Amino acid sequence: MDKYIVKGGKKLFGEVEISGAKNAAVAIIPAALMVNGVCRIENLPQISDTDKLLEILSLMGAQVRLVNKTTVDVDCTNVYLSDEIFELTKAIRASYYLIGSMLGRFGEARTTMPGGCNFGVRPIDQHIKGMKALGATMNIGNGLICASARDGRLKGNRVYLDKVSVGATINIMIAAVLAKGQTVIENAAREPHIVDLANFLNSMGADVRGAGTTTIKVRGVEALHGGTYALIPDQIEAGTYMAAVAAAGGEVRVTNVIPKHLDCISAKLVEMGVEIEEGDDYVTVKRDAVLRHTNVKTLPYPGFPTDMQPQISTVLCLAEGTSIVTEGVWDNRFKYINELRKMGAEIHVDGKVAVIEGVSGLTGAPVAACDLRAGAAMVIAGLCAEGTTTIEDVEYIERGYQDIVGKLRKLGADIVAVTEPNDPADKTATASAG
Ligand code: EPU
Repeated sequence: MDKYIVKGGKKLFGEVEISGAKNAAVAIIPAALMVNGVCRIENLPQISDTDKLLEILSLMGAQVRLVNKTTVDVDCTNVYLSDEIFELTKAIRASYYLIGSMLGRFGEARTTMPGGCNFGVRPIDQHIKGMKALGATMNIGNGLICASARDGRLKGNRVYLDKVSVGATINIMIAAVLAKGQTVIENAAREPHIVDLANFLNSMGADVRGAGTTTIKVRGVEALHGGTYALIPDQIEAGTYMAAVAAAGGEVRVTNVIPKHLDCISAKLVEMGVEIEEGDDYVTVKRDAVLRHTNVKTLPYPGFPTDMQPQISTVLCLAEGTSIVTEGVWDNRFKYINELRKMGAEIHVDGKVAVIEGVSGLTGAPVAACDLRAGAAMVIAGLCAEGTTTIEDVEYIERGYQDIVGKLRKLGADIVAVTEPNDPADKTATASAG
């Protein structure tokens, strides 16, 4: 029942610190299931997806202890399969990584089909192909996935991915770590969080090589041991604040980032007339000139990330001239454009292509977050629009952005989170600054 109320028109100034990478965290927490001993995970983002995954591990017998807000100790020494996790696994996308980690740990897996943001069909055939190649029998029906490894242990093999898939690359990598012999993943995805997962696994005793290239080799080991690992910063959270400054104007230092991971985003913003200065672990983003139009095509890393497509499209609504945005990863990731139209955006969508005619400004309106990144786009639109924007369904946003309201308020934005009681008879709303 939460919503955000944004009063637009304020430029953003100051410094914002980026949290740990959501898509690394949601792979590394399930991977911790395979570790015999205590895994200390640092720089963990405080978001609902990671909370749910930690709860899933607890329901499977793991000892989960928060050391501080961004550090957690996970001890999976005494874990077991449990059907109690199903309500949670249905609710998040990354629960599919439990297939790989359960097969690795127990030689069998029991979970549900994953949930997550809805932007059309999200097949997992490449995950299944990978598990089968490693010797698993897969039974899928009634929303459940039950898998078991022949002879109780997976066996390394060569897997060629028919499509570059982040999720399948990660899942197969996880499953292969405790398999017998060597696994080679070809046509692998190369996203920064794939390298992060490989570094995590290696620091716990795994033997993973080639992550960050299209061929990953995993030599199976007998067991993983505990250790400490700090997650990389979130590329997409950083890109979202960069886009917010581009849209609203101002000057912000985005800290705790790896600038190299932001190259693809910075390059597009620079083409649009945004000034970007790179430091060792920060980027400064400044925009006071008129925005220029450009074209964007989303692609697997190192291409422009699909998870930044709604945010950059929102910025392009304010650029002079016509911009073309082509979605190269997902079939149906333009649903949010209807919401932007309510704010005065002029966008024509044809299949995977959006043609954006720049307008002189957006106007506030009641809109909804259709999914996580679409929700972030609505926040950006609200920040630069004239008047008030009310954003419903913000639980999508909170799946992936730690304290977005608090971070934006620190930069001078006029945004509040409002919780409305479920009881329609009770009209009092409680506002919080997030
Ligand atoms: N695909 C298949 N078969 C598969 C798997 C994927 O055909 O078995 C296709 C998909 O339909 C899509 C393409 O391959 O067209 C890429 O999908 P991918 O598997 O890379 O996506 P994912 O692993 O399900 C992750 C992120 C998404 C992000 C994509 C692409 C997580 C939990 N999710 O999804 O993040 O959009 O990679 O980079 O890591 C988000 O953070 O907002 C988000 C949706």
